[in-house]
Amino acid sequence: MTALAGALEAGQPSRAENDLAIVRQTLVRELLTLNQYEESLDAASAPAVKALLAHLLFEEKEHVAELVELLKKLDPDQLHHLETGHAAGISGAQTNPQRDVGARATVGSLLGLPQ
Ligand SMILES: [Fe+2]
Repeated sequence: MTALAGALEAGQPSRAENDLAIVRQTLVRELLTLNQYEESLDAASAPAVKALLAHLLFEEKEHVAELVELLKKLDPDQLHHLETGHAAGISGAQTNPQRDVGARATVGSLLGLPQ
């Protein structure tokens, strides 16, 4: 259990820990929403509906990026992992070049996971 998880479980997180937890929870919600918009975009048929969903999907990706940037500022360990080591290795070596990773790429598709 991490220090943050322990503090939260004990019910006494610091303000910084609470803010970090909020940012992580919000990031989860944004990623889930992004996937829902992507699924809806695939299922929709009317051009106007598809256009709106594509717009919303693009905006969700912006929100994810904003939250990741904030997470990097609030959590130095996360910053380290995002900018060095495993994350840096994933950026090129483990993507699946056979798969279309254009405007509608997901975390799973970038990692070559079945969709
Ligand atoms: Fe959002």
